[in-house]
Amino acid sequence: MTSKCSKTVLAVAAAAMAAMAPAQAETVHVATSGTSLVLDATEGQPLKFVYYGDRLGAADLAAVAGEGAWTTDAYPVYGMTAHRETAMSVTHPDGNMTLDMGVTGVRESVGEDGSRTVTVAMTDKHYPFDIEVNYRTYADADVIETWAEAVNRGKGTVQLREYASAFLPIRRSDVHLTSLYGTWANEGRVEERPLQHGMTVIKNKDGARNSHTAHAEVMFSLDGPADEQHGRTIGAALCYSGNYRLRIDTGDSDIHEFYAGINEDNSTYNLKKGERFATPPLALTYSSEGKGGVSRNFHSWGRNHRLAHGTELRKILLNSWEGVYFDINEEGMAQMMADIAGMGGELFVMDDGWFGTKYPRNNDSTSLGDWTVDTRKLPSGIAGLCATAKKNGIRFGIWIEPEMVNSQSELYEAHPEYIIKPTNREPVMGRGGTQMVLDMANPKVQDLVFHVVDTLMTKYPEIDYIKWDSNAPVMNHGSQYLSADNQSHLLVDYHRGFAKTLDRIRAKYPDVTIQACASGGGRANWGVLPWFDEFWVSDNTDAVQRVYMQWGTSHFFPAVAMASHISAAPNHQTQRVIPLKFRTDVAMSGRLGMEIQPKNMTDEEKEQCRKAIAEYKTVRPVVQQGDLYRLLSPYDGKGAASLMYVAPDKSEAVFFWWRLDNDVNPQLPRVTMAGLDPEASYTVQELNRIDVKPLPVEGKSYTGRYLMSNGLEMPEQHDVEWHKKNDYSSRVLRLVKK
Ligand code: GLA
Repeated sequence: MTSKCSKTVLAVAAAAMAAMAPAQAETVHVATSGTSLVLDATEGQPLKFVYYGDRLGAADLAAVAGEGAWTTDAYPVYGMTAHRETAMSVTHPDGNMTLDMGVTGVRESVGEDGSRTVTVAMTDKHYPFDIEVNYRTYADADVIETWAEAVNRGKGTVQLREYASAFLPIRRSDVHLTSLYGTWANEGRVEERPLQHGMTVIKNKDGARNSHTAHAEVMFSLDGPADEQHGRTIGAALCYSGNYRLRIDTGDSDIHEFYAGINEDNSTYNLKKGERFATPPLALTYSSEGKGGVSRNFHSWGRNHRLAHGTELRKILLNSWEGVYFDINEEGMAQMMADIAGMGGELFVMDDGWFGTKYPRNNDSTSLGDWTVDTRKLPSGIAGLCATAKKNGIRFGIWIEPEMVNSQSELYEAHPEYIIKPTNREPVMGRGGTQMVLDMANPKVQDLVFHVVDTLMTKYPEIDYIKWDSNAPVMNHGSQYLSADNQSHLLVDYHRGFAKTLDRIRAKYPDVTIQACASGGGRANWGVLPWFDEFWVSDNTDAVQRVYMQWGTSHFFPAVAMASHISAAPNHQTQRVIPLKFRTDVAMSGRLGMEIQPKNMTDEEKEQCRKAIAEYKTVRPVVQQGDLYRLLSPYDGKGAASLMYVAPDKSEAVFFWWRLDNDVNPQLPRVTMAGLDPEASYTVQELNRIDVKPLPVEGKSYTGRYLMSNGLEMPEQHDVEWHKKNDYSSRVLRLVKK
């Protein structure tokens, strides 16, 4: 199955190309197959925004370009019309705090990956200071990545006080904002609200991670409350791993002013002579198919262009964390490997607790930084574990947290200067009362972190998967590496150092799978995903709460990137007792894995998982590479939730349905499906079946039209023996085109 779509695309319309002669650049048309962004780049004038929405044909393009009616700056700057929010503000070496920009030219470049980038260059009318605004497109994605770069061509240092990636004016109407919020163990919750007067700010200040709380991705439903299937909707995702700030200012004009970029708080940046500052891209998309259309646009763009190995299928794994926590030993690991192999899994990941020579890692208060195997626990070392994995016919993966150190560690004893800490102050410590963040702004620390991975991968090239964790925020603002006058660079340079290190790692190890974990879902962002294959959605593995969290997360991220594990009952975070069937049916809607002690499972439960894993393999391409349709939201309080994935060629689909409460006669809505071929006929097969009798729909065929207009009845309960009845029910149906 291929997820590439075959539509032809022009990144820049011919009309615009003609208009790109530097002397009289005027209309710029940044186009994807389904969308258009139109700008007015008249030389000597600030770049103007003209239009963003459905793809325009030549006639409309010519008409809107000539309208000259409703335009606003495409990248507003501070100083000369300063009654509004701005994208960039600076202080020049002479103290002047204004910018006055005019377009100098438009150029287009083609990337190695086939992407096209239109760059509009502007220069200040007096100072040797340039801003370049960029728009990158791909032939097969309805997404435009836009970002700004500031260039100091002068002799002195320019202070960047504000440096947003992008600005987008959104015409006022009845615009509703969808965003995610949350906290540790409850990430990715959906929130919707009408945009009202005043400033809406969505931000992060963690320093190292950025998505436990609010997220740097939003959607704007332009014509009233958000709808999954219909309505003009804009999506915006800031591709950044650090502190961000999204601002939506609704003032006295006809537009909502939307700005997105790095959070500049405590991060004034000094741009020295000749230096260039590139902001992270904001990925913009537009769909007239509601939130669902926006999600699908993000998913296919992400899989094809941004997520590491985005078009490849992920292995089914067992992670040791909730099974044994820090109690790592050779027999235990061998038993878990044999168990997951026996259930049809493909990979075993040894989590925390395996390292530390002088200080053994027995709990979370020691040893981070000392990435040597603890041979008291693992006498045959990692080589032994890799051999055991091989014997079981599975691959081996390992947990690391290389950006961090504990005060009780050999690394800290040798290099106290590597930690983030202000002068004249004792460091405030995090997890375990002893954890500190290494200063990724420091090239020596970047080397050190690179070598953590390099050493493991060189010594044990069999390592197939790395879970890269990050369990502390930046709590002490201070770099022992940066100069006194550049202390305000720390929060930005941390992420530049992080990016450089990951670039090096990926250049040498392009194939290893890497998971971004950060105390659960702290690194669910498009900033890290070029290097990472997936992220851990949450430390909370409770299947009911996961329905809500994964629902929210799916607004912006594809299932292939969302690690979703079957864990124990009672659940370790909520203590809720959820039957294995429901836990499995939720985990199967993402990148399926297990995080449980198989030793504690009955043979019957193991058999149930073996069957689920085998059945997941049959639908894995559709779940991980298909188009998502969210059908019934858990947030609507209708007693159930449902979504489905459809193969891009609509040849098959997989439908998920979960009951969320247990009232008698709840009168649940019947869910109508979406995304199918109306003319095709689909045969129904229930997966993970536990009922004694097949569903009445089992083996029958229905047209896509019927399934989308009527849907199938889901029995409220499972037809199982009396002693197996419980208060949950869920269904997974595979639909295959006849
Ligand atoms: C974090 C992660 C967990 C686990 C522990 C190990 O909390 O989110 O999944 O890896 O660290 O200490």
